Amino acid sequence: MTTPDAALLESYLVRTRWFGGKGRPFEVDHVRSIAEVPAHQGRPSLTVYLVTVTYSDEDAGSELYQVPLSGYDDIEERISHAYVGAIDTDGGLVHLYDAVHDREAMRIWLDGFIAAETTGTSQIDRLRFRRVPGGDPLDDTLVSSPMTGEQSNSSARFDDTAIMKLFRKVSPGINPDIEIHEELTRGGSEHIAQLYGWVEIDVDGELLQTAMLQEFLATATDGFELAVASVRTLLADPEQNVEDSGGDFAGEAARLGEALANIHALMRSRFPAESRGAETTAELASTMRDRLDYARRSVPGLEPSVPQLQRLYDAVAALDELDIQRVHGDLHLGQTLRTSHGWRIVDFEGEPGRPFAQRSLPDSPWRDVAGMLRSFDYAAAMIEMSWATDAEVDEGHALRAERAREWSARAREHFVDAYVTAAASDDGEAASDAGGASSDAGDDTASAQLTGASRVLLDAYVADKAVYEVMYEIRNRPTWVSIPLEALERVANT
Ligand SMILES: Nc1ncnc2c1ncn2[C@@H]1O[C@H](COP(=O)(O)OP(=O)(O)O)[C@@H](O)[C@H]1O
Ligand SMILES: [Mg+2]
Repeated sequence: MTTPDAALLESYLVRTRWFGGKGRPFEVDHVRSIAEVPAHQGRPSLTVYLVTVTYSDEDAGSELYQVPLSGYDDIEERISHAYVGAIDTDGGLVHLYDAVHDREAMRIWLDGFIAAETTGTSQIDRLRFRRVPGGDPLDDTLVSSPMTGEQSNSSARFDDTAIMKLFRKVSPGINPDIEIHEELTRGGSEHIAQLYGWVEIDVDGELLQTAMLQEFLATATDGFELAVASVRTLLADPEQNVEDSGGDFAGEAARLGEALANIHALMRSRFPAESRGAETTAELASTMRDRLDYARRSVPGLEPSVPQLQRLYDAVAALDELDIQRVHGDLHLGQTLRTSHGWRIVDFEGEPGRPFAQRSLPDSPWRDVAGMLRSFDYAAAMIEMSWATDAEVDEGHALRAERAREWSARAREHFVDAYVTAAASDDGEAASDAGGASSDAGDDTASAQLTGASRVLLDAYVADKAVYEVMYEIRNRPTWVSIPLEALERVANT
C-alpha cells in the first residue's frame, strides 16, 4: 500500500492523546509499513505503520510510534472521530482510520488471539500472536470499544472479557509490561489482571512487541479516583474526625500495601534478586545527592531541608547492603484498580522515557513503596488546593488543610504497616531490621515495624522522589511546588 506522507501523520499525531511530543517542535521523518492485512470477510484492510519522530528542540532525540490504520474505499461515518486522512493508491483513494477506534479492525487482533488459543501462537501477515495458558476463552462475537481516560498507550476492551493495550511509543526488545505480567500470571498472582497474550512483529531482525491482551476487570475503579473521592468526602465535613468519616482511606491503603507486598514477593521468586554491597548503597546515595544539588540551584525553597536530607543520604551511603529485585518502577495510585475482589496493580511498563534494558534492571522495592506514599500525598493536597482558592475569606481553610494532612498521614501509615507486615509473613522473616531505633510518631512513614535500614531507605526514596517532583512542578505547575516541598520538610524533620 502507498504510505501516508509525513504531513498527514504530523497533523494526526498532535490530535492524539498518547503522542508524547505535543508542544515540542518535531517532524515525522520516516513512515514505514511493518504489517499489512488485506481487507477480507467484512474486515477492513489493516496496515501497521512505524513512525519515526525527530525533535528539534535542545533535548533533541527521536522516538518510534506504532500507528495501525484501517483502510476503506468509502467514508465510514460511524468512525468519523477516528479519521486520519485519505491516500491515493493503485486501487484508488483509501480512507484511513485509527484502528483502535474501529471495531471492525479490532476483530483482526481478536481473530489472531483466538487462532492462537490451542497451540499458543498464530500469525496474520507479520503479526505474531502469542497466548498464555488459562483465562476465559475468547470468541469472535466479542465487540471492542476504546477505553477513554488519560493514557500513554491505547487500550480497547472486548466487552467484559478482555482488554487489549496497544503500545504507542515502541522500541525493540522485551516489553517489561508483558514480561512481568506473564510471570505474575504464571505465578498465580491475585493482584494483577491476568495476561492472556501478546502480539509481536519482527522488524529488521529485531523483536517489536506491539500489543498485550489481559483479563478485563469489569468492576474496577481507578485507585486515584477512589482516593480523591475519599478526600472530597472528608473535606466536605471537616469537623468530623478522619477515623469517623466516610472519607477515611486507612483500610483501603492497608489492603493496597498488602497487595504490593504480595506482588513484590512473587517478583522476587520469579526474577533474579540479589543483595548488593556497600558500593551500591554509595552509588544510590550519590545519585540522590546529585539530584538534590541540581534542584537546589533553581529552588531556594529547598534550602531549609537540605542539611537534614544530606544526612539522610549519608545514612544511605553508610548502609552495607541493598536488596534488589524486579519492581514496578512507576507506581502511583493511577496504576492501581480497586475491584470487588480487592486491589489490582496494572501497567508494569516501568518509568516511561527510560530504555527497556534499564527498566528491567533490578531495583529496591522501597522505590515502589515511596511512589505510593507520594501519591497519597498528592491525592490529598490536590483536593485541598482545589478548595483553597478562596483561602483569604474562607474560615474553613485551616481545618481542611489539617484534615487533608491527616488523611494522607493515615493512608501512608496504614499502607506501610500493612506492606511491612505482609512482606514479613511472605518471606517467613522479619522485613524490618533488628537493632534500628524505632521512629517517633507523626512523621512521614511512622510505623512500629519499620526500623533501621528499611526506614532509612524508604525515607530516602520518598525524599528523592519529592525532589524530582519539585523540579517537575517548578517547570510545569509552579503553584503546586508546595506539595513536594512540604513533604521534604516532613522527611527532613523526622
Ligand atoms: N485489566 C483492566 N481492566 C479494566 N481496566 C483496565 C485494565 N487495565 C487497565 N485498565 C484501565 O486503563 C487505564 C490505563 O491502563 P494502563 O495499563 O495504566 O495503560 P497506560 O500504559 O496507557 O497508562 C487504567 O488506569 C485503567 O483505568
Ligand atoms: Mg498507566
